[in-house]
Amino acid sequence: MKILVTGGLGYIGSHTAVQLVNAGHEIVIVDNLSNTSEDVAQKIADLTQVEIVYEILDLLDIAALENVFKTHKFDGVIHFAGLKAVGESVELPLKYYENNVSATVNLMNLMEKYKVNKMIFSSSATVYGDPVTVPIAEDFKTSATNPYGQTKIIVENMMDDYSKAHPEFSGVALRYFNPVGAHESGLIGENPNGIPNNLVPYIAQVATGQRDHLRVWGDDYDTIDGTGVRDYIHVEDLAHGHLKALEYTEKENGMEYVNLGAGKGYSVLEVKAAFEKASGREIPHIVFERRAGDIATSFANPQKALQLFDWQVQYNLDRMCQDSWRFIDNLEKGEEK
Ligand SMILES: NC(=O)c1ccc[n+]([C@@H]2O[C@H](COP(=O)([O-])OP(=O)(O)OC[C@H]3O[C@@H](n4cnc5c(N)ncnc54)[C@H](O)[C@@H]3O)[C@@H](O)[C@H]2O)c1
Repeated sequence: MKILVTGGLGYIGSHTAVQLVNAGHEIVIVDNLSNTSEDVAQKIADLTQVEIVYEILDLLDIAALENVFKTHKFDGVIHFAGLKAVGESVELPLKYYENNVSATVNLMNLMEKYKVNKMIFSSSATVYGDPVTVPIAEDFKTSATNPYGQTKIIVENMMDDYSKAHPEFSGVALRYFNPVGAHESGLIGENPNGIPNNLVPYIAQVATGQRDHLRVWGDDYDTIDGTGVRDYIHVEDLAHGHLKALEYTEKENGMEYVNLGAGKGYSVLEVKAAFEKASGREIPHIVFERRAGDIATSFANPQKALQLFDWQVQYNLDRMCQDSWRFIDNLEKGEEK
């Protein structure tokens, strides 16, 4: 299939792009470089041995985006482009509504105009708000605790409404749990600017000496060691979920919501220990009071992805940490040169 990949130079998009090309799909990437750099396109080309077609543009620039639809006849869209910093979304809500919602309206308008009927959307487990029980299944009530989460719910609802008006539409909102890891080559991975929002990039910055210690928010939860338990998923497994979802859209129309998670959780201290093993470096940590709003345990019920897509995770926590570390270590060595 010929697929438009928005945000395809970003963390999850780049891993998915490699898998799409390797599976024989033709891709066109659009990205505004707000959270990545252009050299990722060359890395995708190096990993696939295929020249990558990409355009540096903002989805808010309708004319530029329409040119892409005029130039290429797409079978489907995988929509990764979006802003994802929860804290920033609280400070700058309009920026998030504009970039994540208005931009998606632009994209879907063009999909409608150019009759592109398949769409995979990067949603998030954040749409479950504060779930009352685990494992978390797709039929749980959705709610948002911040503007970022609201934007994910709004786009999901938009796709649902659109699917009702357009029976030929096939949409899948993939609700990611916590993606970590990197391509096994160590060429592409996640390298956030500033203070990371996620645990593994934070741990990685402690391992490389950019930060003194890991902050652990509470060690008195009712979990294996008292620290919070979350569902971590290797980015390669996550990327593969998009290929399976795409296959699904070839067979079925309508709108589906599907968790992509491992179906089990690891505690903060388990992740820390796995990263220490992978990196051979010590990760000092300091325990602080629990953070308001944090829950003890969160993990997915991944049964629906197994049933609909025949998909389940292949990689464990050790492998996630080994691959993350290879990427970070390569970056560090590159910077030393
Ligand atoms: N990484 C996670 O923990 C996580 C979890 C759940 C959901 N998601 C969602 O998955 C998607 C991809 O996440 P990621 O981790 O790869 O993030 P990322 O920031 O690495 O990738 C997003 C890409 O989109 C681009 N982009 C952003 N706004 C754009 C715009 N208006 N026009 C064109 N390009 C734009 C950025 O430059 C970036 O390359 C996002 O929608 C995110 O909300 C991520």
